[in-house]
Amino acid sequence: MSNVKILDKEFELFIPYEKIRSVIETMAEKMNEDLKGKNPLFLCVLNGSFMFAAEIFKRITLLDAEISFVKLASYTGTNTTGQVKELIGLNESLENRTVVVLEDIVDTGITIDNTIKQIEAKNPAQVQVATLLLKPDALVKEVELDYVGLEIPNDFIVGYGLDYDGRGRNLIDIFKVVE
Ligand code: IMP
Ligand code: MG
Repeated sequence: MSNVKILDKEFELFIPYEKIRSVIETMAEKMNEDLKGKNPLFLCVLNGSFMFAAEIFKRITLLDAEISFVKLASYTGTNTTGQVKELIGLNESLENRTVVVLEDIVDTGITIDNTIKQIEAKNPAQVQVATLLLKPDALVKEVELDYVGLEIPNDFIVGYGLDYDGRGRNLIDIFKVVE
């Protein structure tokens, strides 16, 4: 596929959909093993994770698996570690549940760290994290990631749910910026 132009930036094909799909199939196989008998609640962190969540959840063959959708509201205040974003949209109790957070990408790790802390405050039995993508060189937080699809370099990417200023989420493949 040829390059795409989104707003002021040019992007080139980076991860074709076939590769994304096969990575997700592998992640789902492991989850199906790990989560047997646990009545897991998957939590899709919107917006970026919606495609990943759909793709992985339809491959979860455990008939007691549930899914819900949450969002991090734009910051409600600040503390010493920066912006504090509030987790909104959670209607079910997490008490004694096995929770699997579905993230599109872990970059600095600040977002997922903040998300995990808010989930843990609701007394789940266990919190696991699944991220489609990880930029290991960008990490500033120590976070435990149970399922990682692909490790990628520190380039800005779009597509497959990920956006550049709201655009590009509908691209089926993942593209990276041309510097
Ligand atoms: P973190 O808090 O730095 O780990 O960033 C996580 C969030 O930043 C992700 O959930 C994405 O929404 C966004 N993000 C990080 N890297 C990229 C990228 O390369 N493209 C698009 N969004 C990104
Ligand atoms: Mg996100």
